[in-house]
Amino acid sequence: MCGIVGYIGHRKAQDILVEGLKRLEYRGYDSAGVCAVADGALVTAKCPGRIANLEERLAEVPAIGQATLGIAHTRWATHGSPTEANAHPHLSDDGRIALVHNGIIENYLPLKQWLQSKGRTFASQTDSEVLSNLIAEFYASSGDFVEAVRTALHEVTGTYGIAVLCRDEPDRIVAARRGSPLIVGIGQDEYIIASDASAIVAHTANVVYLHDNEMAVIDGDQMRTITIDNVPTTREVELIEYSLEEIALDGFDHFMLKEIFEQPQSIRDCLRGRLNMRESRVQLGGIESVARELVKTRRFIFTACGTAWHAGLIGEFLFEDLARIPAETEYASEFRYRNPIIEDGTAVIAISQSGETADTLAALREARDKGALALGIVNAVGSTIARETDAGVYLHAGPEIGVASTKAFTCQVAVETMLALYLGRRKFMSQEIMTRFMEALAAIPGQIETVLAQSDMIRDVVSRVADRENWLFLGRGYNYPVALEGALKLKEISYIHAEGLPAAEMKHGPIALIHKGMPVVFIAPRCGVYDKIISNIEEVRARGGYVIAVATEGNKEIRRYADAVFYVPDCPQALQPLLTVIPLQLLAYQAAVLRGCNVDKPRNLAKSVTVE
Ligand code: M6R
Repeated sequence: MCGIVGYIGHRKAQDILVEGLKRLEYRGYDSAGVCAVADGALVTAKCPGRIANLEERLAEVPAIGQATLGIAHTRWATHGSPTEANAHPHLSDDGRIALVHNGIIENYLPLKQWLQSKGRTFASQTDSEVLSNLIAEFYASSGDFVEAVRTALHEVTGTYGIAVLCRDEPDRIVAARRGSPLIVGIGQDEYIIASDASAIVAHTANVVYLHDNEMAVIDGDQMRTITIDNVPTTREVELIEYSLEEIALDGFDHFMLKEIFEQPQSIRDCLRGRLNMRESRVQLGGIESVARELVKTRRFIFTACGTAWHAGLIGEFLFEDLARIPAETEYASEFRYRNPIIEDGTAVIAISQSGETADTLAALREARDKGALALGIVNAVGSTIARETDAGVYLHAGPEIGVASTKAFTCQVAVETMLALYLGRRKFMSQEIMTRFMEALAAIPGQIETVLAQSDMIRDVVSRVADRENWLFLGRGYNYPVALEGALKLKEISYIHAEGLPAAEMKHGPIALIHKGMPVVFIAPRCGVYDKIISNIEEVRARGGYVIAVATEGNKEIRRYADAVFYVPDCPQALQPLLTVIPLQLLAYQAAVLRGCNVDKPRNLAKSVTVE
């Protein structure tokens, strides 16, 4: 979604700002801009489109190139289309304040009307411009920049991560956050503000994570933090856990492909130190503090969005199957608004790669306010969801740059498996069965490698059908969420319409869609209902559908029914999603490439959805 970069130091700000914006490109955006104080004025360059367009625009504004302080932004349109006027930074009408903003100012309309009644004028349709004018209005009466930002933030409802400049105080940046992440990187006599660590990591690993309702006031080479009620705060300097190499393409054509191929390693990293084979125990340091409560938990609710929600559905199966504890999965966006019933003994598990998804965060808060034990399965270390949970388990998947989530998904499922085994063993699972599962889980990375080896064959199959506009993905049991995930992957990056369904549901309506040549992907590994899936395949074949099956290695019989087969190694049913999803990720990737789509920056999508 939107991205913020700010710089104050001894180097040319423009280089650092533009490089930072490029590192944030993966989050999704449709316009970009930069502002710096030059010759006693706030000078901006902004435009719709890519960062390359902005660089051309910057070449026409040499004054910005000389500044050692500035702010920059990539905008993902919410209020108003992606035009130059709506792009950030937004100047107040008197040219004294410039601001970049992530989030949504929900009460921007009444604030705008109030400001208009004071004679303020607006050049854009955005909610963000209202905030720059509001700060300017308070600055005009107090003459105190920091105080003006503080006062304005008290008037605002909604979410914000902001970085603000004042024409009259050219050596100062003020930043603040509520519900939208903001980090300050601390370099050698310089500070880099960003909404995402990837814009900072090239310059320093030392960062301070701002908390909600907190401001950073950076003057030259000094920074202080205060709450928006003006209470000084002390923030520890933390270390960014990943390096620049991890966010490089490393010879792959796209981050998505790189991340698909990283999965053997990301799952190994996720499992590392957590499977104690000698004692037949799963050890998860992040939940030790709530271990007793966890064992007494009578109901688990997974809450998440998108791909993470699919991982939650698999978690539901795992918890019920391996730990025999009731579990359900809720869309975070629905859960938060439907006054959910949280009884004693309920734990809510928020699943999120970014740890910043607005709906998931709000659902977590709702559950916690209602007395649930709040747990997180999160990838981004130090993210808001990770901080707001009572306990949790990190994925250790490394940074995921591709908008289409791949390695985070498999690590989410791996963590859920470990949690289910942890609980199952404490309740009833025998040591023997536990050991068998742990060994099977430890073997998954190697098995994924054998699936990845089919990448070229998958491309050949996809090339036969990549022009078809409607696809179905069908699976049962553990593989039903995998069908949903396969369909989501395909639609989000190749813009093909795809639907995922439990296979047996097809005959209750969707079968009407089947026609000659329509691709139908069956996730059909060895399982208790395999014969029933074969019957479903027959039904599709009878209507001329083009059947692609994901089947267990060694199953030659299925070739009689399917036009193409992708094989996965055998493993316990509970672990199948970790393998069966891999060919579907490759299928979606190859379809997108064949259709000429921008795999890592699909249209209209953002990596981290920080607005409702
Ligand atoms: O960062 P999160 O895991 O909370 O993100 C949730 C969804 O927005 C995300 O999984 C989205 O569906 C991806 N584009 C899927 O590939």
